[in-house]
Amino acid sequence: MKDMYILAIESSCDETSCAIVKNGEEDIATITMSQIDIHTLYGGVVPEIASREHVKCITLVIEECLKKANFTMDMIDAIAVTYGPGLVGSLLVGVEAAKTLSLVYNKPLIKVNHMAGHIYANNLTKKMEYPLVALVISGGHTDLMYMKDEYTFEKIGGTLDDAVGECYDKVARVIGVGYPGGPVIDKMASIGKHEYSLPLPLKDDSYNFSFSGLKSAVINLAHNCEQRGEELNKENLATSFQDVVIEIISKKTMKALHDYNVKRLVVAGGVSANKGIRNKLIELCKEENIDISVPDFKYCTDNATMIGAAAYFAYMHGDIADENLNAVPNLNLV
Ligand code: KG4
Ligand code: ZN
Repeated sequence: MKDMYILAIESSCDETSCAIVKNGEEDIATITMSQIDIHTLYGGVVPEIASREHVKCITLVIEECLKKANFTMDMIDAIAVTYGPGLVGSLLVGVEAAKTLSLVYNKPLIKVNHMAGHIYANNLTKKMEYPLVALVISGGHTDLMYMKDEYTFEKIGGTLDDAVGECYDKVARVIGVGYPGGPVIDKMASIGKHEYSLPLPLKDDSYNFSFSGLKSAVINLAHNCEQRGEELNKENLATSFQDVVIEIISKKTMKALHDYNVKRLVVAGGVSANKGIRNKLIELCKEENIDISVPDFKYCTDNATMIGAAAYFAYMHGDIADENLNAVPNLNLV
């Protein structure tokens, strides 16, 4: 089959990104403009500001990406875009840009679910094989997926309340270490000690998660310390918190692999950058002879490269859109 070059656009949250990806597996060029510095001032993503920033950057990232790849539009076979889930105003900027490119240059338009993108980020490192279990951990999701075959998703568990990334960000805010919290807490956790006792959430037999109780326990602990005038050891709290997260995530993930008798695990989403979670899962999978795939660090958080990778498989499965494509903020993968 002829090589397929997809130009992909991602703008679902606070990164404006464009990439050209070959055959769903090779990153030809990626340009990502992050808005983190702006949102840090407010302690989290401000949707209105995010969409305005996307409007400012979208044309630039597309032009820069083509330039970096040394490509012209006639060398592109299809346009792909994230159409959900995400912030509606942010998504719309990418969707409108993609529709325009598709119409003007007469290229097929491929619609991609952001979470499928996170999963297929793994295909940029190593060709994905099936069946597999995918652990999707991000700012908005904590899901366990069973993929019997290519581009088929069955949700077998998910969070009943907060997503794990959201919980990291909240804990970071409470202990005053800024936004986004994940990378900072991860670093602090690597130097602290397990001093504080925190509840292990939802230790049942399901594949579901719950993080709101853990989040509240950390908030209460920090407030109680403050009221008593005691000094909170932030590194130790980060370690205590992360240990609980690692334990519950690895326990449920390994259970899913056993129950479904699957020998392949794929980890995906922004929180898959977490060194503690990655290392623990790598260790457990090694013990049990399970093939584990984690994305390259640069493909863990939001980027268009992963959208270009997923788009190749979406195209093969007929996820083609037209000029009526709209943003779907609450889009589900299954
Ligand atoms: O996938 P992503 O970029 O956006 C969503 O699709 O939600 O994930 C962002 C989330 C944020 O909550 C951020 O704190 C978290 O990923 N994150 C991490 C780490 N790096 C990013 N969480 C834990 N440890 C990290 N090293
Ligand atoms: Zn994401």
